Amino acid sequence: MPRVMIVEDEAIISSLIKAYLKNLRYEVAGEAYNGEDAVSLAKSVKPDIVLMDISMPGHYDGIRTAQEILKEQDTPIIFLTSHTDAETIDRATGLSPYGYLFKPIKQIELKVAIDIALSRKGVEERLQASEARYKTTEETLRVHQNQLEKMVALQTADLIEAKEAAEEANRAKSEFLTNMSHELRTPMHQILSFAKFGMSKIGTAPDEKLFGFFEKIVTSGTRLMALLNDLMDLSLMTSGKMSHQKEKYDLIWILKNTLVDMKRHFEEKGIQLDFEKPDISTAVICDNIRIEQVFRNLLSNAIKFTPSGKRIEIRIEAADIVILEKRFAGVKIAFIDQGVGIPENELDTIFEKFSQSTRTKTGAGGTGLGLAICSEIIKHHGGVINAANNAFGGATFSIILPYQPHS
Ligand SMILES: Nc1ncnc2c1ncn2[C@@H]1O[C@H](COP(=O)(O)OP(=O)(O)OP(=O)(O)O)[C@@H](O)[C@H]1O
Ligand SMILES: [Mg+2]
Repeated sequence: MPRVMIVEDEAIISSLIKAYLKNLRYEVAGEAYNGEDAVSLAKSVKPDIVLMDISMPGHYDGIRTAQEILKEQDTPIIFLTSHTDAETIDRATGLSPYGYLFKPIKQIELKVAIDIALSRKGVEERLQASEARYKTTEETLRVHQNQLEKMVALQTADLIEAKEAAEEANRAKSEFLTNMSHELRTPMHQILSFAKFGMSKIGTAPDEKLFGFFEKIVTSGTRLMALLNDLMDLSLMTSGKMSHQKEKYDLIWILKNTLVDMKRHFEEKGIQLDFEKPDISTAVICDNIRIEQVFRNLLSNAIKFTPSGKRIEIRIEAADIVILEKRFAGVKIAFIDQGVGIPENELDTIFEKFSQSTRTKTGAGGTGLGLAICSEIIKHHGGVINAANNAFGGATFSIILPYQPHS
């Protein structure tokens, strides 16, 4: 049953309204005879609707009283008035009242005014609730949309990155194929030419001349063999099947074996080799063939990229290996050249397969496999390999292998 509060200074009118309300089966929530009392009564009884006389004695007239009540609560107010002057109506209208009743009030008009006011209040409340729901839905939708946009942006970035990586891989691969066919054809061409030439000179050319042809065939054949070995290693590497047979070796012994083979290349290019035996133990557990392969790759690179008349130094010293913040004692062997060096931003990428630095790519030969194979071999030995540029020019490639004094 709706609870109605009456604010009316004239006791007769107030009683009459009360009687009407009773007849109409509304509950009287309370009665006030002036504005101040009405404000505190409304606060305590919280009526569903207020019937408010406009003209009342005291500080507060009905309109001011209504303003005070509306500051605290959202109660529908119906004004009761005998005034119809424009100013009063304007002031009252400013409060968006739920109705006006002109005195003398009739019961039926009171019923209609209260019913309309309550039904309007109900509609307004439902509207507010649905607006609030709409706002929440809109907010949730906005959050979802933001998330979706972020996800799309992330996925797009991932896709672009993947596409760029695929394009880069594709580019490196086709560059590799071009290089590879060049690297295969050149020695093959030499082998065939010198073999044919030699055949045509049998019986006419002196033996030394024929020996020279055979020597060139052997050199080209060796080059071809090295290339095929690299390709073999590449396929072992990619299938994870590169095997190592490790034993205790002296690194200096392996280095000297390598240098026996490589000496000729230093001499041919007129490059001086500097190496002083260090005063430390150089025992490591390793696969000597593989480590020799690494030395040969690094030395042939150093020779390839260093001009004639310069020097290459090999320096061996003790150094620590730091892997995942753990420190291991190791032996470091550095190949220090006086060649073209490596662009600083490519010091890491040159270890990737098929990769060649932008400084040497044009016409230096090679397939870009050597360092990738070295890196794989050193990784298998628990060591590290690294490239750096020298302050005085040229590059230094160093390897550190774990030191094994007691094994
Ligand atoms: N000592 C060096 N000085 C300057 N650049 C070097 C040196 N060593 C390697 N590089 C650069 O690193 C690249 C990769 O070397 P890597 O040994 O992997 O391939 P490659 O020598 O080009 O070919 P491959 O060894 O397969 O015949 C070289 O092409 C070169 O650009
Ligand atoms: Mg190489």
